Amino acid sequence: MNISVIGLGKLGLCTAACFASTGHTVYGFDLNDHFRSELKSRRNPIEETGLTELLESAWERLHIVDSYEAALQSSDITLIIVPTPSLPDGRFTNDYLVKVLEGLAPALKSKSSFHIVDVVSTVMPGSCDTVFTPLLEKATGKRCGTGFGLVYNPEFIALGSVIRNFLNPDMVLIGASDERSGSAVSELYTSTCKTRPTMAVMSLVNAEITKISLNCYVTMKISYANGLAAICEQVPGADVDVITAAIGADSRVGSKCLKGGLGFGGPCFPRDNLAFQAFAEEFGSEALLGKAVVAVNNSIPERLFSRIARHCAPPAKVALLGLSYKADTHIIEESHSIMLAKMLVAAGYQVALHDPKALDAACDLLGNDVVCCVDPYECLTGAAAIALLTDWPRYRDLDWERVAMLAAPGSLILDSWRTAMNNDMSAFTYIPVGVGISAKDTVL
Ligand SMILES: NC(=O)c1ccc[n+]([C@@H]2O[C@H](COP(=O)([O-])OP(=O)(O)OC[C@H]3O[C@@H](n4cnc5c(N)ncnc54)[C@H](O)[C@@H]3O)[C@@H](O)[C@H]2O)c1
Repeated sequence: MNISVIGLGKLGLCTAACFASTGHTVYGFDLNDHFRSELKSRRNPIEETGLTELLESAWERLHIVDSYEAALQSSDITLIIVPTPSLPDGRFTNDYLVKVLEGLAPALKSKSSFHIVDVVSTVMPGSCDTVFTPLLEKATGKRCGTGFGLVYNPEFIALGSVIRNFLNPDMVLIGASDERSGSAVSELYTSTCKTRPTMAVMSLVNAEITKISLNCYVTMKISYANGLAAICEQVPGADVDVITAAIGADSRVGSKCLKGGLGFGGPCFPRDNLAFQAFAEEFGSEALLGKAVVAVNNSIPERLFSRIARHCAPPAKVALLGLSYKADTHIIEESHSIMLAKMLVAAGYQVALHDPKALDAACDLLGNDVVCCVDPYECLTGAAAIALLTDWPRYRDLDWERVAMLAAPGSLILDSWRTAMNNDMSAFTYIPVGVGISAKDTVL
């Protein structure tokens, strides 16, 4: 198929590369001149696992154009993947999308064949029916559903695994103004995905609600496991991993996203939760579960801080290993590690940081208040407390005998994911999060 992609950022460029590498012809446009010129020179401006390699098989069919008109005229479907930042009340703004739709409208008006406008950006429920459809109908003089098609087709992907998630979905969500548009987008994904996903084709508003409620459900599982971990920590002999493994084996629950540890962060989950609450309130309802999920999540950095404060007082050195909101990405947005770093700095601790990918971003943010180390052993040298935060595979291979020689005697090891549990940790005050080790550790 001939498709166009407007917005070639973290999700948009991966999407364009996935379609182009699976045989579709893709016309990409981004307002960012630098992105366009880099892409025209076949250089990848976005850091994402596997993207540079995937682009190698995509360049032949990935054409970078310089206008909305060129993108729309060359294609049958236009995917829009621009930011929808959160407003102070938690709602997403449609400002960027509106600008794109206004830019596409003249070409949509003059095009003689049926064209599908496919919004991929995350939007508030109701946006398609109350904002996008009226805007396009007014600007083009055409009827939505007959003169052109409107689709809402958001992704469920995580940074660091965008390409894998995109090509191997369980489900593709397609809200459509009409059957023809829904079928065309369904066919596009069927021809691209490696899996045989469920094609969930529905009305635009149902798809809008599905998108944010699915994300909220996933965060509910994460917060459930984290709430359980907090309780287990108080109970001598309790082990959150043993319990969640059994709970997750029940097919009514499922094992994914059920590991107690750090909370959820990043650019999607936290804001989707707030948007879900704002959406419920707008329609006179209340997202009680959503509120509880956020409360559990917000309590985690404080819980980690309390553990450290009980062990050592400022200005002791605290080493934080892992800064990104999850492994395999450099993104630190809404990262619990960063929240903990800020709390420690404010309390007067000396804070040293390490991360395989996110160190630069964290150090740019925290500046001279912290010491940034490219080597984890340098980071933890002399530390009275060491917190293992993001679950990077690299930290599973730490040489704990060496750590014992470098860190302060009897230093606290706060192990968010229990990665060091099978080692001899007797040289340390070892606290695996979610495990009630002994009575003396049970009072927060
Ligand atoms: N990144 C993710 O993991 C992810 C996952 C699910 C959903 N989403 C949603 O996808 C949307 C985009 O997210 P992202 O992370 O790719 O954002 P991003 O900031 O990485 O990329 C957005 C791109 O859009 C471009 N852009 C902005 N305004 C434009 C315009 N008027 N015309 C053309 N290009 C324009 C920007 O230059 C930028 O390159 C958001 O709504 C986000 O919530 C993202």
